[in-house]
Amino acid sequence: MTLLDSIILRAKTLQKRIVLPEGTEERTLRAADRLLADGVAKIILIGNPTEIQTLASQYNLPHIRQATIVDPVQHDKKTAYAQLLAELRKSKGMTLEQAEKLIEDPLYLACMMIKAGDADGEIAGARNTTGDVLRPALQIIKTAPGISVVSGAFLMFVQDKAYGEDGVLVFADCAVMPNPTAQELAEIAVATAQTARSLVGVEPRVAMLSFSTKGSAKHELVDKVVEATRLAKTMAPDLEIDGELQADAALVPFVGNSKAPNSPVAGRANVLVFPNLECGNIAYKLVQRLGNAEAIGPVLQGMAAPVNDLSRGCSANDIYNMVAICANQSNK
Ligand code: ACO
Repeated sequence: MTLLDSIILRAKTLQKRIVLPEGTEERTLRAADRLLADGVAKIILIGNPTEIQTLASQYNLPHIRQATIVDPVQHDKKTAYAQLLAELRKSKGMTLEQAEKLIEDPLYLACMMIKAGDADGEIAGARNTTGDVLRPALQIIKTAPGISVVSGAFLMFVQDKAYGEDGVLVFADCAVMPNPTAQELAEIAVATAQTARSLVGVEPRVAMLSFSTKGSAKHELVDKVVEATRLAKTMAPDLEIDGELQADAALVPFVGNSKAPNSPVAGRANVLVFPNLECGNIAYKLVQRLGNAEAIGPVLQGMAAPVNDLSRGCSANDIYNMVAICANQSNK
């Protein structure tokens, strides 16, 4: 059984309520139909009910009738959600009138449903940008207790099984923090290690990546990674983590042995932490496209409840898999 198969199987037993705010988007509807047919999760679609039903029959998606459909403009809890939103954002100057308008935005509505306990997780981004998906989640759902930074990991399934954990690696941050501080980078490393444990089921070996290995180059960007490694070790003393390492030293045993001979991680890393978002986002896309790897994510880490963003180039199958992952995350 593959890792994804076991994630999907576990989701079936959990029966979490996953809200899809892009309920009139074709790939989302196709994924929802299959998810309902396979019993992977309870699906909540946000969108005009007549439009959703018309599209479902046009695309021949009979299982959509099992979904809960919430009309963002008119539903029973609209006033209650608007009041709760105004209360939550009072310190930011939000009025009830502003909240009443904002709550008609499906991306805000989905987050309010989670906040109010009416849904367990959200997947969006087939139609909306990452920023637009994340902003309401960061404002409303916020970070988990003790965590200050949300970041995005990708589960990477590469062709060569010699790398990572039988060809599976976790990359982060590939989606959220443009330029993390050393402290934020350390938090990202610890959160990514936790994702490797909880979703991939492996003991993480974390490489803090740089363009330098163990002092081979001197630069303030290298210093940041060295400091982040030190901080991460204090946050999680039992974690196998090392840095700064170049990507080849992290992944290839003979390079790791020669460049960082005493490292517990070099040459055998299964978690790669990138120094900033430019590196992480570009790296995962290059490995996916040029290396023919399967990339699943971004799996958001550090949020109080799971909200996962999609790439706008995603397939219905990607959405299906992300719903299963989201269901697993919401069981923490
Ligand atoms: N972790 C926790 N909270 C955060 C984070 C974070 N990483 N970033 C912002 N916040 C909080 C802020 O504290 C703030 O909370 P408050 O309003 O209660 O005070 C709220 O979120 C909004 O913060 P802003 O800084 O005003 O939000 P902004 O709109 O500037 O941006 C965002 C946040 C959307 C995450 C931004 O950093 C961003 O766009 N990042 C890049 C996303 C992206 O484009 N990724 C690449 C594509 S993804 C892909 O290819 C799969």
